Amino acid sequence: MISIIFGILLSALALFATSLFTLRNWVRSCKKKLNGSFEGTVNIAFFHPYCNAGGGGERVLWCAVRALQAKYDNIKIVIYTGDIDSSPNSILKKVQGTFNINVDEQNTSFVYLKRRMLVETKFYPYFTLLGQSLGSIILGLEALCKFPPDIYIDTTGYAFTLPLFRYIGGCKVGCYVHYPTISMDMLRRVQQREYCHNNQAYVVRNPFITWLKVIYYWLFAKLYSWVGQCSDTIMVNSTWTENHIRDLWGVPFKTHRVYPPCEVKNIKKLKRNENTDNILILSIGQFRPEKDHPLQLQAMYELRTILSRNEDLWNKVKLVIVGSCRNESDYERLKNMQDLAKHLSLENSVEFKVNVHFQDLLQLYQKAGIGIHTMWNEHFGIGVVECMAAGMIMVAHRSGGPLLDIIETSEGSQNGYLAVSAIEYANCILSIIYNSKELNDTIRNAARSSVERFSEEEFEVNFLRAVTPLFNES
Ligand SMILES: *[C@@H]1O[C@H](CO)[C@@H](O)[C@H](O)[C@H]1NC(C)=O
Ligand SMILES: *[C@@H]1O[C@H](CO)[C@@H](O)[C@H](O)[C@H]1NC(C)=O
Ligand SMILES: *[C@@H]1O[C@H](CO)[C@@H](O)[C@H](O)[C@H]1NC(C)=O
Ligand SMILES: *[C@@H]1O[C@H](CO)[C@@H](O)[C@H](O)[C@H]1NC(C)=O
Repeated sequence: MISIIFGILLSALALFATSLFTLRNWVRSCKKKLNGSFEGTVNIAFFHPYCNAGGGGERVLWCAVRALQAKYDNIKIVIYTGDIDSSPNSILKKVQGTFNINVDEQNTSFVYLKRRMLVETKFYPYFTLLGQSLGSIILGLEALCKFPPDIYIDTTGYAFTLPLFRYIGGCKVGCYVHYPTISMDMLRRVQQREYCHNNQAYVVRNPFITWLKVIYYWLFAKLYSWVGQCSDTIMVNSTWTENHIRDLWGVPFKTHRVYPPCEVKNIKKLKRNENTDNILILSIGQFRPEKDHPLQLQAMYELRTILSRNEDLWNKVKLVIVGSCRNESDYERLKNMQDLAKHLSLENSVEFKVNVHFQDLLQLYQKAGIGIHTMWNEHFGIGVVECMAAGMIMVAHRSGGPLLDIIETSEGSQNGYLAVSAIEYANCILSIIYNSKELNDTIRNAARSSVERFSEEEFEVNFLRAVTPLFNES
């Protein structure tokens, strides 16, 4: 009996191996044929199933394409996309409109993928991680069969496609990681039976299911680590992601931190127009719970307590909280915040502005002298970068991206302030108000030049450096 099962397993394995081998040879013969007409051309393919979305991830993609086209003239860019309803022309128009990025149209082509639904979360109510990853392999296979490239770069975090293109497609492979698919934090949360969005109540209650889930996550992390190591070069978008990817993949010598391009150039051009009658503190962020707006109100409360003997100065301080509301729950939160402001008797010192127009926002950028950010453990903090570019002195939360990537507080290179508790925030604001003009200017200038690290130019230089190994003959 056992020998029969063993025999069946063995032949299934042999069949699988043979089909992989056949596929590999077929793909490589396709590649030879492709090569025939363009002598010496290197085909570079980007895997970006939602390339028409117009978000931060897409800015990375198009800046990368433009940088490669500017540097190399013997390349051809191909983008694997699932946007089957958008023509190449309309996609490139949108890129131009949204990001002001012009790519060489002659040199950019699209390979349309029909099976994008295989990577959508809603397709997998259970085993989402594994399901999406297997789905991405099938989608990758579709891409590989339609067009086998010489260099393959994944820019959306489908790491499971990397071994496919490397071993079956015979490509050099690279990836840009915005966010690790699994993290040790997730594993720990399941292990300690904490309730959260990816750990439902029935799992928390049942030790056996918890045990199974820990094993599932652990195996998945092992697999993720293996596929990640297949990459010839790895780019990560921040220190936070870098730390996680180093822990998981363990190949620090191939891992490069390449900050994504942010739109700082135009904000830096804004002229400052600070109103000397008031001391304007600006807070920008959606009215989401994690932004912790109540902490900003508490900081104001503390500031008033400290300034109780200097009413004139206190009356000049104004906090303007700018944010957008997406739906009912956001409006409710806003209402609660307004009530809290009243409760703390801050209604004359705090102003809420909802869904402001971009032009008005730019005016606030010019008028405000101080910026405040209170979210704990934000992965990056693009809002902080924009305020610094505009010339505000930032007081940000001492955690996550502001601490790791953005704000420097040591003397001589200070470009902002960090705080955790309401009292600390109040003290930081107070010391900015009492700063000498020289110190203010030094901090503002340091802040404005430090955000250059997040500019498009800096991204392009670092991206090109990180992908150089892909162009070397092996
Ligand atoms: C592509 O063509 C060039 C010149 O004909 C040749 O040297 C190169 O090996 C070919 N590449 C592949 C992948 O077949
Ligand atoms: C990196 O990507 C994550 C996920 O999209 C995002 O939350 C974070 O802000 C990004 N970091 C930077 C530096 O943009
Ligand atoms: C509002 O949107 C957030 C995030 O999309 C969601 O978590 C929340 O449930 C929504 N609330 C309502 C009332 O629709
Ligand atoms: C320093 O900057 C803060 C914030 O804009 C301002 O209130 C303060 O008056 C400035 N100090 C001087 C001496 O200009």
